[in-house]
Amino acid sequence: MSPPPSERDRLIAPNGAHDEAEEAQENYQRTVIRRSSWGGLTVVFILGLAFVFILQGRVDDWSYWSGVLPKNPALAARMILENSPVIDGHIDLPFAVRARYANNVSAVDLNARQPGHVDIPRLRQGKVGGFFWSVYVGCAKPDDEGPDFVNASWRVRDTLEQIDVARQLIDKYPETFRFALTSTDIKSAISEGRIASILGVEGGHQLGNSIGVLRQYYNLGARYMTLTHTCHNAFADSCGMAPGFPPRHGGLSDLGRTLVTEMNRLGVLVDLSHTSDATAAQALNHSRAPVIWSHSSARAVHDVPRNVPDWVLRLVGEGEGQKDAVVMVNFAPGFVAPDGLADVSAVADHVEHIARIAGKKHVGLGSDFDGIPAGPVGLEDVSKYPALIAALYARGWNKYELAGLTGANLLRVFEGAERVAAELQASGLAPAYDVYEKRPDLPVNWDDL
Ligand SMILES: *[C@@H]1O[C@H](CO)[C@@H](O)[C@H](O)[C@H]1NC(C)=O
Ligand SMILES: *[C@@H]1O[C@H](CO)[C@@H](O)[C@H](O)[C@H]1NC(C)=O
Ligand SMILES: *[C@@H]1O[C@H](CO)[C@@H](O)[C@H](O)[C@H]1NC(C)=O
Ligand SMILES: [Zn+2]
Repeated sequence: MSPPPSERDRLIAPNGAHDEAEEAQENYQRTVIRRSSWGGLTVVFILGLAFVFILQGRVDDWSYWSGVLPKNPALAARMILENSPVIDGHIDLPFAVRARYANNVSAVDLNARQPGHVDIPRLRQGKVGGFFWSVYVGCAKPDDEGPDFVNASWRVRDTLEQIDVARQLIDKYPETFRFALTSTDIKSAISEGRIASILGVEGGHQLGNSIGVLRQYYNLGARYMTLTHTCHNAFADSCGMAPGFPPRHGGLSDLGRTLVTEMNRLGVLVDLSHTSDATAAQALNHSRAPVIWSHSSARAVHDVPRNVPDWVLRLVGEGEGQKDAVVMVNFAPGFVAPDGLADVSAVADHVEHIARIAGKKHVGLGSDFDGIPAGPVGLEDVSKYPALIAALYARGWNKYELAGLTGANLLRVFEGAERVAAELQASGLAPAYDVYEKRPDLPVNWDDL
């Protein structure tokens, strides 16, 4: 930058030449005054223009460039999701590959449109920054597994196949997916523009009653486990699918409490979707780490057992007797609303109800895409999340609250679980070696060999 004329003159004529210098200074001041009045007029002009735009309701494009969120909900949702993409708690893509392709990952082209709800173009359209790949196998029929769940089954094999499918698919598209084991991995994936891919096991029945199996699922990448699916298991009671499902343990069994502690020690999030209310309340109380509902909505909005009742939602929070958690809203039409009424606005009602009871910091998204026959109207597949964000923006949610909903709440809970795991390991807590008491094969009877 060059010095103003007055100083420049002084430098040129250090001795005498006062008149010339003063005249130059006056000229300079006149120029400054002239310039500032032009500047003032320009500002008035721009403000006037902005005012006209606002009056015409055309401020949206202008505010897009200025960094202020526009009034137009669709535009605002896009901007919010750009910085705070969706981290979905539950997507059943691995099971869709099992069902449709018999686990043949070579046959799956995620760059092409898939028959289900998930493929790469639609994930990108929907501004997805991460999701939990559910590695799921169904419950056995009660008669097959026996009253104590101990009959031999293929669930551990099938779960390993689901983990294999998920990891093969993640590796197949390295520009799109990044396998994530930690909250730091999730954030790095998002900042690289990749989709963080985390594994979640959908039911304690997939452990074959064995806590050792949980440790190995952890080693293979599992970072949450749902305590039950739709059946009871050795660890905990399920809510089943219909009201009045008779309990087996009255919540968690003793072994279930041990399992929760082991999950805390490892850093596997305790997932309470599918559990009975008693299981959920007891696990919330017992878990030292924050917990999740990976795909559950609000029972007060639509009364089905798979949704979370208000009395359990009141146990979530920062207060005395409460625990940090995130309830990730399920989009399954049957859990959202009576037949034919599930749409974006009904899903937004679930989000708002959970926020009203537990707080906006405790709600997230867990669509269940590819695990449900169809999505609600307006939320048909993974390309549609922006419609839900737009609906909530229109209802007054601000960008920080929406960033919490799309992913930050889940990340906080995940980090909390990592912190607890580090503390428990530092405290020297030993791994759990408890054996399910109904197992006939342990300890080994040498005479039977
Ligand atoms: C898997 O799919 C690929 C591509 O469609 C096909 O060429 C291959 O034969 C399949 N493999 C098996 C074992 O079915
Ligand atoms: C499962 O175990 C029960 C006993 O616990 C037995 O009666 C039943 O036949 C077994 N079912 C199969 C399919 O093995
Ligand atoms: C929570 O757990 C403590 C022991 O850790 C127990 O004393 C208390 O009764 C439990 N509360 C509920 C509501 O289960
Ligand atoms: Zn489920």
